[in-house]
Amino acid sequence: MPTFDLLTPLSFLALIAQVSFGKASTVSLVTTGLPGTWTYAGCYVDNTNGRVLGNEYDNDATTVESCIAHCSVSNFTLAAIEYSVQCFCGDYLINGAVQAPESDCNMACGGNAGRGDMWWPKSPLSVYFDEQRYGDSRAHDSENESSRSLGVSGIDRATGSIVFPYELDWTTNNTVDACLNQCATYGYPAAGLEYGEQCFCGDISDVTSNGGTYVADSECNMACSGDPIHLCGAGNRLTTYYWNGTTPLYVWNTPENTGYYEASLKLFLIGGLVVPLIATVGINNKVTFIEKGATSEFSNSTGAYELDISLADNYLLAWREMHVKSDVFCSASIILPDKGARQINIGGWSLQSTYGVRLYWPDGSPGVNGTHDWEENVNELSLQRGRWYPTAMMMSNGSILVVGGETGSNGPPQPSLEILPKPAGGDTFITLDYLQRTDPNNLYPFLLVLPSGRIFIGYYNEARILDPVTFNTVTMLPNMPGAVNNFLAGRNYPLEGTAVLLPQHAPYTDPIEILICGGSTMGAGIPLDNCITIAPEVGNPTWTLERMPSKRVMPCMVTLPDGTYMIVNGAHQGFAGFGLASDPNLNALLYDPSKPVGQRFSILNNTTVARLYHSEATLLPDGRVLVSGSDPESPGYPEEFRIEVYIPPYLNQGFKQPTFTLTETDWDLGGQYQIEVTLFQGATDTMRVSLVAASSSTHGNVMSGGRILFPAFSCTGTTCTIAAPPNADICPPGWHQLFVLDGPTPSHSTWIRIGGDPAKLGNWPDYPDFTLPASRTYDMAALAFKRQIFKSESPEDRSLAL
Ligand SMILES: *[C@@H]1O[C@H](CO)[C@@H](O)[C@H](O)[C@H]1NC(C)=O
Ligand SMILES: *[C@@H]1O[C@H](CO)[C@@H](O)[C@H](O)[C@H]1NC(C)=O
Ligand SMILES: *[C@@H]1O[C@H](CO)[C@@H](O)[C@H](O)[C@H]1NC(C)=O
Ligand SMILES: *[C@@H]1O[C@H](CO)[C@@H](O)[C@H](O)[C@H]1NC(C)=O
Ligand SMILES: *[C@@H]1O[C@H](CO)[C@@H](O)[C@H](O)[C@H]1NC(C)=O
Ligand SMILES: *[C@@H]1O[C@H](CO)[C@@H](O)[C@H](O)[C@H]1NC(C)=O
Ligand SMILES: *[C@@H]1O[C@H](CO)[C@@H](O)[C@H](O)[C@H]1NC(C)=O
Ligand SMILES: *[C@@H]1O[C@H](CO)[C@@H](O)[C@H](O)[C@H]1NC(C)=O
Ligand SMILES: *[C@@H]1O[C@H](CO)[C@@H](O)[C@H](O)[C@H]1NC(C)=O
Repeated sequence: MPTFDLLTPLSFLALIAQVSFGKASTVSLVTTGLPGTWTYAGCYVDNTNGRVLGNEYDNDATTVESCIAHCSVSNFTLAAIEYSVQCFCGDYLINGAVQAPESDCNMACGGNAGRGDMWWPKSPLSVYFDEQRYGDSRAHDSENESSRSLGVSGIDRATGSIVFPYELDWTTNNTVDACLNQCATYGYPAAGLEYGEQCFCGDISDVTSNGGTYVADSECNMACSGDPIHLCGAGNRLTTYYWNGTTPLYVWNTPENTGYYEASLKLFLIGGLVVPLIATVGINNKVTFIEKGATSEFSNSTGAYELDISLADNYLLAWREMHVKSDVFCSASIILPDKGARQINIGGWSLQSTYGVRLYWPDGSPGVNGTHDWEENVNELSLQRGRWYPTAMMMSNGSILVVGGETGSNGPPQPSLEILPKPAGGDTFITLDYLQRTDPNNLYPFLLVLPSGRIFIGYYNEARILDPVTFNTVTMLPNMPGAVNNFLAGRNYPLEGTAVLLPQHAPYTDPIEILICGGSTMGAGIPLDNCITIAPEVGNPTWTLERMPSKRVMPCMVTLPDGTYMIVNGAHQGFAGFGLASDPNLNALLYDPSKPVGQRFSILNNTTVARLYHSEATLLPDGRVLVSGSDPESPGYPEEFRIEVYIPPYLNQGFKQPTFTLTETDWDLGGQYQIEVTLFQGATDTMRVSLVAASSSTHGNVMSGGRILFPAFSCTGTTCTIAAPPNADICPPGWHQLFVLDGPTPSHSTWIRIGGDPAKLGNWPDYPDFTLPASRTYDMAALAFKRQIFKSESPEDRSLAL
């Protein structure tokens, strides 16, 4: 706290020295020799729009020092003397105190003839402020302004129009520095202050594109509501600052090689079969799509199909019809670590479907249809709680964590978590008060396993770290920043953004980071134009904000094998949900975390296909990105059957993709595995190896966390030995696509499993109508017999088999 030394002999003497005994016209304004850290601030006009200071203390004997002493005892920052005898105290000038020439403050103090203050009728007051109290910020203020401001300009805006899009109203505490800092923090290089209390943020180009015209600075003559010293525009006049810092607020790269949306794929031209909710690449290198049921306007769908990418040119051969028994709208999927890499889908729309647990064991091979289908029997196998919009996550111990959602279509929240397979002995769900509190803005919460073994949960604008056994909160992380002018912004459905883990590199000692991009704001539904990152397990973690080149709600983010992330789909306006978004964002972005913060975005190519609610982006085994879906149920935007493929820049430079072979695809944690590589551009010393976790994503939620690992490896000639990740907290059990990168260019992937199936999901569920990949050693012949018998449906045969 500042200390006041009102009676130091030195300041007292200085005051005495100021005293003049002349007439009013010759009184001298007291500007120096003030007590303690008090300083003269200027002569201001009161009452232009109302009183500029609230706390009045009148005394015929008022002097500068008695007023300061009075204000200072009450811990006020400002003291002002008006009309000889009036002393006002406050922390800031309000109501647009206009600065007046010092000569206007020329009335002698009531208690001290010859000492300046005010004059009727203009009502100027001389203002003093406690610099130390006011003021540490002020001390830096001018320093910051000069490093930032690229010319301070008065800007006229036509009444009713805006120059800069983001407005903050700080009715009592607007300051130039706070406004500039706020704008800069969110990546806006232009800040405009208007009407004393308004702070606007935007881009320099907004001035011309929104019709602002430059006017004389003197037209900006209103003091800032929280700063009597600086001016914050006037009515329709903006005091405008431009960023002139030594480093730019952001650099958006505009590479010549942007890659492109491949339209030659027949699928794009002919159209797909479904408007998918979830797209998942199986270890058979085919893509399963599931589609919502009852609420669909198309009655011709079974709700499930598999696409054979190798037959993409032949629409009649490429699609295989599959079947789900219940409505998968809006469910969650992950890939199990069992030997079959089964896909599990849970939850759904209304009644029994919300309890749904569906399993598909991918089979067949490129060019050859499989025969397996989705298996489901809600009477045998169901969630403990009905869930619509839940998230599923593979835990490091091999069980499945299921969190959140609502009890049915727009029903009450289901603010709980449960474990699959359900532990023996009855229901074991845990209620999460914070999901109750933030419903309905937390659906499809983000869930990620952290290297400590703990679990990150991100929902609405909050995030915490949970204990993986008790699920109690271990750390409450800071709130996620949202929009520059709106704290009530969120990152999950319906304020939908997207989240991934950033790459983990051997030896996995760097703190893990989480990247969350896009989202939207409550109320007006202005999407967020930023990504935020956090290293949740370092001390005092904070969010780092990076401005994206455009606003985006409902983005899809897909991890690429080189450790970059593509961001596609979504809209410039609105929310996730049916009919709630408009102005599609057609531009693809690349986020490269190996670049410095603020310089990580590259602006890629555009599509012509609007992809709004229920759209997906999926990494294909050849390194391309499958872009599918859009189910807006909204006039003007079609239900989208067309499927596109994005060719990222790394496949667009005329280089041949490297190849490799390996024999062991079932890896132990900490094991060593050999591959034989063929490179075409570089050598093994510049080669990289990556492991991309198998994933399903929907509603911006990549349910593997988009995890990518860069394991250590060493090569002798073209034989390279890869060190599998050391533990299940760094690499939760599951299937991964192994890639090698020859310079920038990825190979095709090979599926490998890491860490086995610790929860023995391969034996689950043990019911006759489920086909099990069996992680334990079975007598395969006996098993086949048993299944055969069950399929015969005869009760006698069944009892025989048991
Ligand atoms: C002023 O601040 C001091 C130090 O924080 C405190 O002890 C005192 O109570 C305050 N006085 C008033 C009137 O609030
Ligand atoms: C001045 O700018 C620096 C860098 O942006 C910031 O850390 C500091 O807080 C600013 N000073 C004030 C008073 O806002
Ligand atoms: C911008 O900043 C540089 C120093 O970083 C300074 O020399 C220059 O005068 C500033 N420009 C304006 C218009 O303030
Ligand atoms: C001004 O006060 C409001 C309300 O207390 C607060 O939310 C806001 O952050 C403050 N602004 C600044 C620049 O301190
Ligand atoms: C963008 O994609 C289109 C086709 O989708 C392609 O013709 C064009 O060359 C691409 N642009 C760049 C800069 O690569
Ligand atoms: C269902 O009908 C739509 C509209 O006619 C069509 O585009 C789509 O391919 C059909 N889907 C199936 C599975 O037949
Ligand atoms: C796969 O099965 C579907 C029927 O579900 C059929 O239309 C398609 O032609 C088959 N594809 C191949 C390669 O046999
Ligand atoms: C994994 O942890 C959860 C939470 O403690 C527990 O319920 C589950 O039984 C564990 N799974 C295994 C396979 O140990
Ligand atoms: C993508 O679209 C934006 C906005 O229409 C345009 O400015 C940009 O040049 C386009 N990019 C490419 C590569 O065509």
